[in-house]
Amino acid sequence: MKLSCRASSFLDITEGAAVLFCYQSSQIENELLEKIDILSGGAVREMFASGEFDGSAGKEVVLHRIPEMAAGRIILAGVGTRDSSDADALRKAAGQIGKLALSQKLKSVALYHDGVKTEESVQALAEGFILGSYRYLDFKTENNKDDGIHSLTLVVPLRGRLQQAEKGMTRAKATTGAVISSRNLSNRPGNDLYPEVFAKHIQKLAKANGVDCRVLGPAEIRKEKMGCLEGVGQGSVHPPRFVILKYSGKGSGQPVVLVGKGITFDSGGISIKPAQDMWEMKGDMTGAAIVVSVMMAAAQLKAKVNLVGLVPLAENMPSGDAIRPGDVLTSRRGLTVEIISTDAEGRLILADALDYADTFKPQAVIDIATLTGAALYILGFSGAPFVGINPELNDQLRASSVRTGEKIWEMPLWPEYAELIKSSIADLKNSGGRPAGTLTAASFLRRFIKDWPWAHVDIAYCDLEPSGLPYIPKGPTGFGVRLLLDLILNWKKVS
Ligand code: BES
Ligand code: MN
Ligand code: ZN
Repeated sequence: MKLSCRASSFLDITEGAAVLFCYQSSQIENELLEKIDILSGGAVREMFASGEFDGSAGKEVVLHRIPEMAAGRIILAGVGTRDSSDADALRKAAGQIGKLALSQKLKSVALYHDGVKTEESVQALAEGFILGSYRYLDFKTENNKDDGIHSLTLVVPLRGRLQQAEKGMTRAKATTGAVISSRNLSNRPGNDLYPEVFAKHIQKLAKANGVDCRVLGPAEIRKEKMGCLEGVGQGSVHPPRFVILKYSGKGSGQPVVLVGKGITFDSGGISIKPAQDMWEMKGDMTGAAIVVSVMMAAAQLKAKVNLVGLVPLAENMPSGDAIRPGDVLTSRRGLTVEIISTDAEGRLILADALDYADTFKPQAVIDIATLTGAALYILGFSGAPFVGINPELNDQLRASSVRTGEKIWEMPLWPEYAELIKSSIADLKNSGGRPAGTLTAASFLRRFIKDWPWAHVDIAYCDLEPSGLPYIPKGPTGFGVRLLLDLILNWKKVS
């Protein structure tokens, strides 16, 4: 989709559709609406009177053949009351329009909102539209001739606002590029995307974006003594990889390290999962996809911070070579881990990655992972539970959460949870059973950090939207991309 900004009056828009975002009100309040009402012979007034349209959130109407207007059609889109209309309300309203544009096979769309005065609101409108019209067609061979929406233009009423609009558009472009890259990767099936293929894909992206990339293969993983990553990967015919990405936006200075879980398929291993819904575990590499996508967007936007992205990649499969329940693995840190369930594999590969993070002397480390099914019972599909040990880092995450509308909520790391993962024969066990599964997993990870600020975000279930929301179609959500990118772009050193 070609993205641009232009200063023009609404009535002069020539695109296939001219979208006017309107605040909720009981009658026509806006001069422009008044004009459209007159041109349309009173159609707008009639819709307000009947309640068909009143600017409330989620409502939209399409008007055809308005005399004296060049646009193919006019769409009025409600954003809710002036007071409640924050960035996420704009994102949602624009998301609905993105979906509508796709279903009506529109090729060029112009968005217009009188109230849009800031870079953030332009960004939100463009993001919503682009993310709402997302679809994944790579494996469709039938009925895939429609090539989608060609162009999106943000029209501002005044020339003076153009520069800000363009800034917002630039951010929206990199941000949605990252969300879409992440959704696409999560959609890819396990037979198409396995560690070797994923690593090559990352190398290509890194090269295109001027990001430094190094890939460790099985021999180097062994040399690094990453016994947990090696163990998780050993049941698969597709051996593991460990990808290291580096972006320098600040000359010297300690990096912020992002770590993402990259299980390209999680069958559970010998502790095999039930068949129902197992297909969803092709998305168990979403943390990795997020980290990679955020790194690329940060580079595109020239973020002023040094970044390292660490991505352990493995396929968790049962086989004669697979690890068994009862096995003991030795992690890179040297801590031994008794395997209670081979299905608690995410924490194992993250343990070695977190230990490796220390080689960069990080100023902070954030990991993101589809780690525990138990996350569903904490916040459902609506948000991600997170844990942290540094109040300033937690605050920055919360601020990004509010700005992006990607909801997170802090959970405690009580010592009781660490008790539950003590092993009688090794230093640790990899499962604490059912109680507080999200927090015993987090407590496990905590054993592999050093004295740097650290936070862990569990995106299990909010990575996959079950029915469809305004700017999140059913399927992989890319949840976490906008959160972490916002965090990076607004990064403040933590002490
Ligand atoms: N990848 C799963 C977690 C998951 C489940 C993510 C469902 C998204 C949807 C993870 O590897 C896993 O299997 N965790 C186990 C841990 C248990 C064996 C201690 C779980 O949550 O059941
Ligand atoms: Mn698992
Ligand atoms: Zn998993």
